[in-house]
Amino acid sequence: MTKTITRRDAPLVGAYRPEGDKSLSHRALLFAALAEGESVIRRFLVGGVTRAMLRCLRQLGVRWELDEEAHLLRVRGVGLRGFAPPAEPLDCGNSATTLRLLAGAVAAAGVPCVLTGSEGLRKRPMDRIVEPLRLMGADVRAEDGRAPLTFRPAPLHALAYALPVASAQVKSCLLLAALAADGPCAISEPGPSRDHTERMLAAMGASIRPLDPPAHGAVALPLAAPLRPLDVELPGDISSAAFLLVAATILPGSDFTLSRIGVNPTRTGILDALRAMGASIDALDAGVLAGEPVADLRVRAAALAGTEVRGELVVRMIDEFPAFMVAAACARGETVVRDAAELRAKESDRIAGMAAALRALGVDVEEYPDGFRIRGTGRIPGGAELDARGDHRVAMSLALAALVAERPVTIRGFDILSESFPEFPRVLAL
Ligand code: S3P
Repeated sequence: MTKTITRRDAPLVGAYRPEGDKSLSHRALLFAALAEGESVIRRFLVGGVTRAMLRCLRQLGVRWELDEEAHLLRVRGVGLRGFAPPAEPLDCGNSATTLRLLAGAVAAAGVPCVLTGSEGLRKRPMDRIVEPLRLMGADVRAEDGRAPLTFRPAPLHALAYALPVASAQVKSCLLLAALAADGPCAISEPGPSRDHTERMLAAMGASIRPLDPPAHGAVALPLAAPLRPLDVELPGDISSAAFLLVAATILPGSDFTLSRIGVNPTRTGILDALRAMGASIDALDAGVLAGEPVADLRVRAAALAGTEVRGELVVRMIDEFPAFMVAAACARGETVVRDAAELRAKESDRIAGMAAALRALGVDVEEYPDGFRIRGTGRIPGGAELDARGDHRVAMSLALAALVAERPVTIRGFDILSESFPEFPRVLAL
């Protein structure tokens, strides 16, 4: 679908509670399938990526019931080794989280199967899970480090492994496989990737511990008793909220509240980065949902200045760079991001794609192998036709740029946004 968006003169005012967090929706669903008993998951994200996980689990013999209107999901768990061998390859669509987390679960279950996905997903690196899974003893074959991945049952062993790049998907894959290993698996990583898997598995009864000596990552012990089912309400997705935080910051006169947003410190880098630029974001009414900290985020329009982002902050805002790049374009002064080469291995090469798009809109952007420099002037000239490149977050970020651009912006492939945030066009009245 092609969409043309013209400048918005009205501020963003009011309040909105986003759907459940994407990472937590994936985990709650998959871990519920691996538990014994019935789980209830409220505010489940109904998007393209979670539909992929739902389809795959059904093929593995898991029964679930989804009330789409109510975002209410019930899952009948089959236990860690209860998956049935699927007749067909499991199609993970565009969802790397589905593929990488399922890989750990099917290795643990000892179920023969093939994991594959869309053309885009089949281009993304899978050697990062294949290599350590093989070190654990898994029988998994890849095609040149990419999906399809073919699994055959094999006993899994203890492992001590240091991830070369901080990644919650890889860490989660290995922690899941570790539940069926014959000894402890210690997974360390160079930065603080999201720890939702550790929190949720521990709450379900798994033995997940900090590394000793302390480091980023975790140790998982073989499962001693079945995982307990979940009864949870999921926090709102801070990665979806980020688009509205940026929108309200750059649309003059805005005052908008995002309620019940997950503010796990491994996810709040975008708040730190925007605040460092001068954004006005208040976290109010702190609470806990599904074992995760939540808060209401009140954001008011503000003038932004350039900033610098590198190191661990990059990991803590890894999905937010497309939206952040629009904020940087609207700021005055230079914004520099380094240590972010991982952005090239997401749903698209987000450095190249966003840099090309912003340049087409008249923004001064320079690309580095591991980041970019944006010289913000406080305005986006606009007046171009752009492509979302099959990337939901690029589609939404280009829409943000269009809201403040001086001339209309046309976005091809705009509907890809429904992978993670189907309500985005409605909330912004696009
Ligand atoms: C995710 C981890 C991140 C993130 C993705 C979701 C997760 O990927 O980009 O959108 O749910 O574990 P990496 O682990 O590849 O950094």
